[in-house]
Amino acid sequence: MKEIKFYNLPKKNKDFEKDFIKSFKKINFRGRYIIGNYVEKFEKNFAKFCKAKYCVAVGNGFDALKLSFMAFKINKKLKDGDEVLVPANTYIASVLSIVAANLKPVFVEPDQDTFNISVNHILKKLSKKTKAILAVDLYGHPADLLKIKNIAKKKKLILIEDAAQAHGAEILSRPIGSISDATCFSFFPGKNIGAFGDAGAITTNKHDIFKILKSLRNYGEENFSNLKDRKYKNILKGVNSRMDEVQAVILSKKLKTYNLDLKRREQISKFYLKNILNPKIILPKVNSKFKHAWHLFVIRTKKRNKLRNYLKKHNIQTMIHYPIPPYRQIAFKEYRKLNFGLTDKLSSEILSIPNYPTITNNELKFITKILNKF
Ligand SMILES: Cc1ncc(COP(=O)(O)O)c(C=O)c1O
Repeated sequence: MKEIKFYNLPKKNKDFEKDFIKSFKKINFRGRYIIGNYVEKFEKNFAKFCKAKYCVAVGNGFDALKLSFMAFKINKKLKDGDEVLVPANTYIASVLSIVAANLKPVFVEPDQDTFNISVNHILKKLSKKTKAILAVDLYGHPADLLKIKNIAKKKKLILIEDAAQAHGAEILSRPIGSISDATCFSFFPGKNIGAFGDAGAITTNKHDIFKILKSLRNYGEENFSNLKDRKYKNILKGVNSRMDEVQAVILSKKLKTYNLDLKRREQISKFYLKNILNPKIILPKVNSKFKHAWHLFVIRTKKRNKLRNYLKKHNIQTMIHYPIPPYRQIAFKEYRKLNFGLTDKLSSEILSIPNYPTITNNELKFITKILNKF
């Protein structure tokens, strides 16, 4: 069997090459390259997909998070130095966004089964200084948002969600993007819905946050719907985080057929869950109230490095999401003394195996056979 890649983006993106070329010609004809009609159309489409009232397209997933925190500071729900509960077990971007907004991350251990922020541990970490929770839908599995939302409501906390990996996931049939105060998505090329470069978005049901975000992404300029009405009036200290028209065209196209991708991801995961039968390997668990977006299929084993080398020998690429938790990174010297037993254990035992929509059934069978022989 020739090498099985961890991702195969060129194979997936080949289907969109023609659209890209066609739309590029249209964009060039119109002469509007950044936040034009295609971005507006995508915002409408994505809000509808998430059953959210509003969507604001931005430059990337990190900015979606940072700008959401900034927006809640502008509307006075948060202030400099407030504490934000964040999973210890996440990608560093979640934590960096809190720091970038001049807020303080407080790490919380994950749940044993889903690896997402644990509701019990949230309750233990709440303090008078806690003003927000950043829930992350790691690997595409929604965090236990309805329970977390209840806590947030009782304690008057802002709930921001990092759904960079969870497009199309659901809880009790409610789409991710419609539940939290602000939900942040990444369209980095390798994500479930991937652009041809960097892109991100925020969905929200709050009109004031929507307005603030629209202005913040464009240097804090007063919102205008038509270029002719632009007054160069800046009402907020914003940033440049604008989506370009090319990304918006690709994303709208991908969104149209995304449900097929989601189905295929689910099919692949079901196949793995049914057919990987090796007592040395722990498979991911999903509670029936959640619809998983299966961005990543992450297995666990005490012999992780040995398994990874073994798979490599059999031409199967794997990745680790993530080998170093944020609080152990050199960048966060101030947190390196902290200890989170379960997060540390997970980071030494997890392994992501190939699970993208274009993988073939023969490749899946081969991966399963090799894993079962380990
Ligand atoms: C959980 C999580 N949060 C945030 C981000 C940041 O997204 P982006 O790379 O688009 O800035 C990513 C993507 O890498 C992610 O996986």
